[in-house]
Amino acid sequence: MLVELNHVHLQYGKHNPVFSGINLSVEPGSFHFLTGASGAGKSSLLRLIYMSEKPSSGKVKLFGQDTTYMSRSKLPSLRRRLGVIFQDFRLIPHLTALENAALPLRVAGGSDVQIRSHVIELLAWVGLEDKLDAYPAELSGGEQQRVAIARAVVNKPSLLLADEPTGNVDEPAALKLLHLFAELNKMGTAVILATHQQTLVERLGKPVLQLQRGQLIQPLARAA
Ligand SMILES: Nc1ncnc2c1ncn2[C@@H]1O[C@H](COP(=O)(O)OP(=O)(O)OP(=O)(O)O)[C@@H](O)[C@H]1O
Ligand SMILES: [Mg+2]
Repeated sequence: MLVELNHVHLQYGKHNPVFSGINLSVEPGSFHFLTGASGAGKSSLLRLIYMSEKPSSGKVKLFGQDTTYMSRSKLPSLRRRLGVIFQDFRLIPHLTALENAALPLRVAGGSDVQIRSHVIELLAWVGLEDKLDAYPAELSGGEQQRVAIARAVVNKPSLLLADEPTGNVDEPAALKLLHLFAELNKMGTAVILATHQQTLVERLGKPVLQLQRGQLIQPLARAA
């Protein structure tokens, strides 16, 4: 299993618990939508998997390793196998689209020429071939989001965590991006995609994880 959550509770401060004992197993190569009302805990669940949040109790495993009490020094090597699209993009303002998308490859090491041609190809894949040298502030919200998508998948991660990755584009553009995620999934990357755009969920016919009142409900998958 790529991800296993075992009876996970999460509570911020004295508020009502966000999760009261959720279980989840994510298989290699799978595709799940993650849905639930605003505030239901979609981002929190992705942060638990990304290890930027710890459960109040229960166990979180990533790539077969228990990350619940893992030392911080071990996190980067696990995180390199993840692709993440944050709800707020988190692009680096003084780097261009090309440089932002290339970051994970730079960190992993690789020749400039190889990196450049691969990243240009990827930015074209998300429809940004004419924005390679633009800085985040010169890009629209939807364009920034697509740079974040390119950056998240540039390393061919085994698992992609996508938090509202189509929240800043119109429906036709969202559908196009959704098909990119499906394409990526076909090539072997497992995907967990948080969204509250119900029409998108219905279009792809993939299994849905639904957060509701602290619980994770997994209705039976419908046929695609
Ligand atoms: N760092 C934090 N400190 C305190 N409370 C938090 C924190 N992060 C999230 N929460 C609370 O936890 C709950 C779940 O938040 P979360 O961001 O996970 O929801 P979400 O489903 O992603 O919502 P949205 O659809 O609006 O993005 C909310 O009630 C939120 O106010
Ligand atoms: Mg959220």
